[in-house]
Amino acid sequence: MDQNLTRKDFLKYSSAASAAMLLNALHIHAEEQNLSTLKIAIIGCGSVSNRYIPHLQSSSSVEIVALCDIKYERALEQKKQYHLSAETYNSIEAMLKGVAFDMMVTLTDMQVHGELNKKALQAGKHVWSEKPMANTYAEGKALLALAQSKKLKLWGAPAVVNSPQFAFMNKMIQEGKLGRIASAHGQYGHTGPTWSAFFYEKGGGSMPDLGVYNIATLTALLGPAKSIMAMTSIVNPSREIDNRGVVKVEAEDNAHLLLDHGKGIISHIMCGFNYFDPHGHEAKGQQLHSIQIFGDKANMRLIGYDWETNGVYLDDSWETQAKLYEAETGGYQWQEGATKVAESIVGNTSPKINVEHALHVLEIIESARKSSAEGKKIYLTSSFKWPLF
Ligand SMILES: NC(=O)c1ccc[n+]([C@@H]2O[C@H](COP(=O)([O-])OP(=O)(O)OC[C@H]3O[C@@H](n4cnc5c(N)ncnc54)[C@H](O)[C@@H]3O)[C@@H](O)[C@H]2O)c1
Repeated sequence: MDQNLTRKDFLKYSSAASAAMLLNALHIHAEEQNLSTLKIAIIGCGSVSNRYIPHLQSSSSVEIVALCDIKYERALEQKKQYHLSAETYNSIEAMLKGVAFDMMVTLTDMQVHGELNKKALQAGKHVWSEKPMANTYAEGKALLALAQSKKLKLWGAPAVVNSPQFAFMNKMIQEGKLGRIASAHGQYGHTGPTWSAFFYEKGGGSMPDLGVYNIATLTALLGPAKSIMAMTSIVNPSREIDNRGVVKVEAEDNAHLLLDHGKGIISHIMCGFNYFDPHGHEAKGQQLHSIQIFGDKANMRLIGYDWETNGVYLDDSWETQAKLYEAETGGYQWQEGATKVAESIVGNTSPKINVEHALHVLEIIESARKSSAEGKKIYLTSSFKWPLF
């Protein structure tokens, strides 16, 4: 028996009804010892799970032991499609009473991330959450406090800071190659997902789905934002959703944000579900310079989107043309976040992704809505250790 469990704990857990809790508790304590694999439970077996599952399977440090979806047939389908020996569940409650696991990977509708992440943390599980990690900044802060009080790890997507292109831009800025930085721009848009309504319902929107990438990239490169002014709108009041019909759009499908990063640096981000993009949702072959950073000695332009990019142009000469750097992915994939943080637990290392940063991004999204609704500048309260690395 685990030495950290007292006799009182054992008696508390020893009734037949609590057997599953005991097994889970033993498992958590075991995890503090040297683990060679982290047991993963995936909640939400929809579109993005098709990117996460193969990536998790590619790592020798993780094992997918549970799949859960309220549309239970989806959990069964993913088990079959990816030849998993995982247990399947139709609710988080059933999953938390079932097979022991270490970390929950949350891939559900955005609106339920906060409540699901809280239940997992309360049950002693680490959490990697797709964005947003909570539905309000206050809820996100409470989740982090809960995780810290239980010595658990909590992380939120995206994983953009892991790319070699991010590392290059970060290095150029930290080494002062751009001179005095004045302005930056980020943009991300397409004509919007058609497979689920939650993207357009309250708690959804183009900021937590798309703008979140640019907000994460620009705050990580330029530093935490001190204040924000924004305008958001709904361009399409209704949407046609696959197998569902027409739904009312309640969350912004168009947003422009202005962020003050201090020292006079201002960035602009635009995102929306109404941008024609012949490269589609997958953005294959996208050449747009979606991130641009301007200093008085050089500027940088990232090719494609920050979550899947093919390089960065650095323009620092009056005589020669801009040079292309980091044209290879270096193994980075946008869906790697859960795998990388799981590997960091097993290897006892610190990942580049940082939860305070995700929380800051969440406060920016919430404050952008407030700024737009009230027509005023909003001062931000959150921050994170910067530079990230
Ligand atoms: N689809 C993508 O390419 C993509 C890319 C990056 C990030 N994301 C993010 O991933 C998340 C999921 O997006 P998606 O496109 O996979 O959506 P989806 O609609 O395809 O899948 C969501 C799944 O979650 C399930 N679900 C909802 N509530 C649940 C609950 N309480 N318990 C268990 N299961 C529940 C739904 O039944 C559905 O199967 C979102 O946060 C989205 O922003 C998606």
